[in-house]
Amino acid sequence: MNMLVNTLDHRWISLTLRQAWITAMAAPKVHLSTHPPEPVIPSKKPFKVELVGGKRYSWCACGHSKKQPFCDGAHKTKAQGLMPLRFIPEKDCTVWLCGCKYTNNPPYCDGTHKQDFIVSAPLHEQTDS
Ligand code: FES
Repeated sequence: MNMLVNTLDHRWISLTLRQAWITAMAAPKVHLSTHPPEPVIPSKKPFKVELVGGKRYSWCACGHSKKQPFCDGAHKTKAQGLMPLRFIPEKDCTVWLCGCKYTNNPPYCDGTHKQDFIVSAPLHEQTDS
């Protein structure tokens, strides 16, 4: 009797494992990445912008927006995982907003665009799609 149970157990385990393997083989391939999404570079210079105090702005952080330096929602389809930076200036002011998207003081330019990795990088071409 023990021998029969053991044989049945073995078959059940074998079928269960095979079924899991077949399910895994049929599943769509998923590419997992441990790298955070990176912005593209729409401009290698900052944008001089006059801001209105108390007004809410959304600075594009992905670089795909066609309304640079502000967000137009392009991150939702072209750069999932990157969100715009929303901010409200306290008073009317003129500022330089980062255009390269690699500033360490978003949304403001901090001069990072002068570094070699930005200077030598390709400029992102905006497309209609
Ligand atoms: S434009 Fe990005 S740091 Fe100056």
